[in-house]
Amino acid sequence: MSTLSFHRHRRLRQSANLRAMVRETHLHVEDLIYPIFVIEGENVKQEIPSMPGIYQFSLDRLNEEVAEAVDLGIKSVIVFGIPAEKDEVGSQAYCEHGIVQQAIRQIKQTYPELVVIADTCLCEYTSHGHCGVVENEQVLNDPSLELLVKTAVSQAKAGADIIAPSNMMDGFVAAIRRGLDEAGFTHVPIMSYAVKYASAFYGPFRDAANSAPQFGDRKTYQMDPANRLEAFREAESDVREGADFIMVKPALAYLDIIRDMKNHFHLPIVAYNVSGEYAMVKAAAQNGWVSEKTIVLEMLTGMKRAGADLILTYFAKDVARWLKE
Ligand code: PBG
Ligand code: ZN
Repeated sequence: MSTLSFHRHRRLRQSANLRAMVRETHLHVEDLIYPIFVIEGENVKQEIPSMPGIYQFSLDRLNEEVAEAVDLGIKSVIVFGIPAEKDEVGSQAYCEHGIVQQAIRQIKQTYPELVVIADTCLCEYTSHGHCGVVENEQVLNDPSLELLVKTAVSQAKAGADIIAPSNMMDGFVAAIRRGLDEAGFTHVPIMSYAVKYASAFYGPFRDAANSAPQFGDRKTYQMDPANRLEAFREAESDVREGADFIMVKPALAYLDIIRDMKNHFHLPIVAYNVSGEYAMVKAAAQNGWVSEKTIVLEMLTGMKRAGADLILTYFAKDVARWLKE
C-alpha cells in the first residue's frame, strides 16, 4: 500500500509554533485560585513540612504573601484559618473576630480587587476535628448546618466575595443560600465543594490546618472514591439548591468525574488539586526524580482538558511565574 493513503498526524507537530497553533487546551493565570493558611500569633511564617513552599502566616505577615500572588497576576485566593482555641462546637469558625474573619477584612482592605474565597467548614475549629457537631461519635447533619450558616454569614460580613462550603452536610447549599440572603448577601456566590471524596490525598492539608479527626474518619459524610453516580446526585442537589460553582475534589484521581460534571451541568467547574497531589510532586522533584515545572503544567493542563474551568492549587504562584516566561 502506498504511504500516500496514511493519515499524517505528524504534519501538525513539526515545529513549536505549529504545535502552539493547534493546541486545544490552555492554562491561564485567571484559572488559578491560590490557597492561603492564616494562623493566630505574631511574626509567624511557618513552613508546612509535608508541603514545601507553603506556609502558615500570622496576620502581620499575611500581606507579603498576598502581595506576591497579586503581583504575579493571580486573581483569587481561598483562605483557611487555624485558630488558637478549639472547642466542641467550633465557635472560632463563626466568631466576628475569628482569625479568618480578620484575615478576610485585612486582605479586602489592602487588595479590594482580589477575589477572596472563604472555605466554610468547622473541622479546623472543632476540638474533635470533625466537620460538624458531634454527639455520641456521630456527626449530626442539621445542627451542623446551623453553625455552617453562621460561619458563612460571618465570612460574608467580613467581606468574603465567595463562600465555599466544604463540610458535606446534606442541604448545606440551600441553608447557606437562605442565610446569606436573609442577612442581605444575595450577591455573594456559593462555590460548593459538591463532589468531595473521602480521600487520603488530604493528609498534608490536615497537618497544615491541624484538622485531622480525633476519632473515626470522614466516610459518613465525604464520598466513596469508588462512586460515579453519587457525584451526579451530589451535584444535582447542590445545583437545585442554588450553587454557583461545582467543585470536584481531589482532582488527579477524579478526572473522569470532572469531565462528567462539565458535560452534565452548566456551571463553572472547579478542580481542587489537593495537598497530597502537591506533596507527591514536591517530594519527587526534590529527589530529582521528575521535572517539576513540566510535570505540574502537564497535570494542570490535564485537569483543564478534563473540563475544569478553574483550578485551586498550591502551585498557583509557580504556574503564574512559568506562564510569564
Ligand atoms: C475542610 C477541607 C479539607 C480540604 C479543604 N477543606 C480537608 C478535609 O476534608 O479533611 C483539603 C484540601 C487539601 O488536601 O488540599 N473540610
Ligand atoms: Zn471540614
